[in-house]
Amino acid sequence: MRRTSVANGICALALLLSGCSSPTPEWEQANPIQPLPEPPLGISSTFAELEEAPTPERVRLGRWLFYDTRLSADGTISCATCHRPENAFSEPTPVSTGIDGQKGTRKAPSFVNLAWTLYPHFFWDGRAAALEEQALGPIENPIEMGNTHDAMLLALRGVPAYAPYFEEAFGTPEISAPRVAKAIADYERTRMSGNSPWDRWRDGDESAVSEQVKMGHELFFGKALCNQCHLGQNFTDNLFHNLGVGWDAEQKRFADLGRYVVTQKEEDQGAFKTPGLREVTKHAPFMHDGSLQTLRQVVEHYDEGGIANPHLSPKIEPLDLTQEEMDALVALMEALEGEGYQDTPPTAFPQ
Ligand code: HEC
Ligand code: HEC
Repeated sequence: MRRTSVANGICALALLLSGCSSPTPEWEQANPIQPLPEPPLGISSTFAELEEAPTPERVRLGRWLFYDTRLSADGTISCATCHRPENAFSEPTPVSTGIDGQKGTRKAPSFVNLAWTLYPHFFWDGRAAALEEQALGPIENPIEMGNTHDAMLLALRGVPAYAPYFEEAFGTPEISAPRVAKAIADYERTRMSGNSPWDRWRDGDESAVSEQVKMGHELFFGKALCNQCHLGQNFTDNLFHNLGVGWDAEQKRFADLGRYVVTQKEEDQGAFKTPGLREVTKHAPFMHDGSLQTLRQVVEHYDEGGIANPHLSPKIEPLDLTQEEMDALVALMEALEGEGYQDTPPTAFPQ
C-alpha cells in the first residue's frame, strides 16, 4: 500500500513541476521493494524468529544508504567501499582504505548470515553488541567515512526524496541516526549464504561434491578439529581465540591486542573473533590483518600448530596433516561458495 503512495506522491510532485512521464522515479526502479528473501538451503533460521524481523521497506531504504557515498564527509566513501558485494562484503586487501586514502589496521570482515549469531559479538574484537550499534561507528570513524552524525543527517535531510522512504519504513519522515542504523542493519540481515555444493551434499545429493571435498569434511569435523571453533550453520562460534596471528616474536607483543582491548584480560591478548567460513574463498587475503594469502597457507598455519606465543589457544596444536589432507581441507572450504548474498549497487539514488 505504502509503496504506491510514495511513488504517487513523488509523481504528483513531479507532475506539478514538469509533467510526470514515468510513474516511478528512476531511483525507485533501480531499487524496488522486494519481499524478504528466503534463507537458502543450509540456513535453518528464519527472520520470523528474530526479536524484530527486517521489513521490506527498511531493507530497501537500507540498501540505498549502504551504497550511498553521501554518508561520508567528502562524498567519496560508502559502506560498500570496504564491504564489497563481489567479495561477499569483505574486501580483497589486507586492511581497509578509508577517506583521504587513510589505511586502517584491520581487514573488513564479511557479514553474511549475521542476522542469526550464537553470541552478539560484532567486529574482530566483539566490541559492538548489535548490527545497529555497529553501523553508526564507521560514519564517524576519522579514517573510515570521516563524518559526524550531525553532518551525515544534514546531508540526508538535504535530499528531498529520502524523507518519503523514511516515512515508508518507519511511519514518519524524520531522518535520525538510529533510523539510518536500523535500515542499514536490516539490509545487512538479508545478505545470506547457503545452497553451496556442500549444503546440497549434506541434503542428500551425493554427486554435489567430489570425493576430495568429502574427505575434507571428514577432516574438518574430525582429525583437524576445525569445528571446535568453526561450527553451526555459519561455521563460527562467534567467540575469540588466539592463533598467534600478528605476534611479533622479536618485540614479544601483538601488533593488535584484539579482544584484550575490550576485556583488559591478559589471556585475551591477540584473540580475535572466529570468522564464518561461508564464501571464504572471497575473503582473501585472510585473517584480521590479511596476513595469509591463500587458503592453503591458512591450513599450513593450523598444521604447524599456529604461532607460539604466551596466550596461544589450548585448542590449537600441530595436526600432522599430509599434503593430500591439506588439499582436501582447502577443497572443502571451496565447496562453501553458495548464494543468497549477491547484490550490485543500485544504479540510482534518491535525489
Ligand atoms: C574504510 C573501510 C570501511 C568502511 C567505509 C566501513 N567499514 Fe565496516 N568494517 C571495516 C573494518 C576494517 C571492520 C573491522 C573492524 C574491527 O574489527 O575493528 C569492519 C567491520 C564491520 C562489521 C562487523 C562484521 C562482523 O563480523 O563483526 C559490519 C557489520 C560492518 N563493518 C558494516 C559496515 C557498515 C554498515 C558501514 C557503513 C555505514 C561500514 N561497515 C563502513 C571497514 C569499513
Ligand atoms: C581455536 C579456534 C579455531 C580452530 C580450532 C580453527 N580456527 Fe580457523 N579461525 C579461528 C579464528 C579466531 C580466526 C581468525 C584469527 C585472526 O584473524 O587472528 C580463524 C580464521 C580462519 C580462516 C580465515 C578466514 C577469513 O575470512 O580470513 C580460515 C580459512 C580458517 N580459520 C579455517 C580453519 C580450518 C580449516 C581449521 C582446521 C584446520 C580451523 N580454522 C581451526 C579460530 C579457529
